[in-house]
Amino acid sequence: MSRVAYVNGRYLRHAEAGVSIDDRAFLFSDGIYEVIEVFDGALFDEAGHLDRLARSAAELRLNLPMGEAALKFVLREVVARNRVRFGHVYLQVTRGAARREHYFPSPGTPPNLVITARPHDPVAGDAKARKGIEVITLPDIRWKRPDIKTVSLLPNVLAKQQAKEAGAGEAWLVGADGFITEGASSNAWIVDAEGSLITHPADSSILCGITRTRLLAIARAKAIRVIERAFTVAETYAAREAFISGATTLVLPVVRVDGRMIGDGAPGPTALGLRAVFHDPVASLG
Ligand code: PDD
Repeated sequence: MSRVAYVNGRYLRHAEAGVSIDDRAFLFSDGIYEVIEVFDGALFDEAGHLDRLARSAAELRLNLPMGEAALKFVLREVVARNRVRFGHVYLQVTRGAARREHYFPSPGTPPNLVITARPHDPVAGDAKARKGIEVITLPDIRWKRPDIKTVSLLPNVLAKQQAKEAGAGEAWLVGADGFITEGASSNAWIVDAEGSLITHPADSSILCGITRTRLLAIARAKAIRVIERAFTVAETYAAREAFISGATTLVLPVVRVDGRMIGDGAPGPTALGLRAVFHDPVASLG
């Protein structure tokens, strides 16, 4: 079965789907996106992702081409047409196609909406979590609004590639003040010696992950002490546990940072415990 992509009202064969070379995201990375997990055929935390999409659009003064109800319908249609039961959906909205000028195009220019879906193997994800990943730290050279989920991801791409070349699965980005903000494509967490769960506050220097928000709710329901504050590289090296979170990775333990072993060098109980209950309704965890 060939993959199907949604492009501006049409369902097309993925390989033949496309937008104009004048698309503003192609020219200026003038667009926003979301990645939503498909769990057992359903769009997990869909409301949170759509709220964040609306926020990103408002921050960039970008019009969404359809309302939430229509968008939900198309998202389901793309999942169904690609027969995805476990995987993720990718949604991108750009400021449309127009002659290359930095100014916004004329008000009537329609935004471009592309939605694709891809399956993933949940068993492989769990196996990776049991092993844990390595992380390297790098300077955070992004613009000052990473809280907006734009497709402008060049610093993230460079960091991720550098991590891969170092044999690591993620790069943790360090601000000029020496504090870690987040990962190149995930949020960053540590567990300190007292067992407190620590993650950067959701200010303008990180993307407020939908996975992060759910994990905070789960942790609080399980009476784990949670502290939303920035932490340093030195604190990370001394942490009992470390992990990353995101819609594609869920909770992934970090066992080494910059070559130094975290805790005993094995995935920690907090990270694995949070991963194990991640898809359970938060209300039932208390
Ligand atoms: N990345 N921080 C950054 C920089 C991210 O790119 C992501 C997600 C997150 C986690 O957000 P969420 O929990 O809502 O997925 C944090 C997506 C998955 C990506 O770019 O592929």
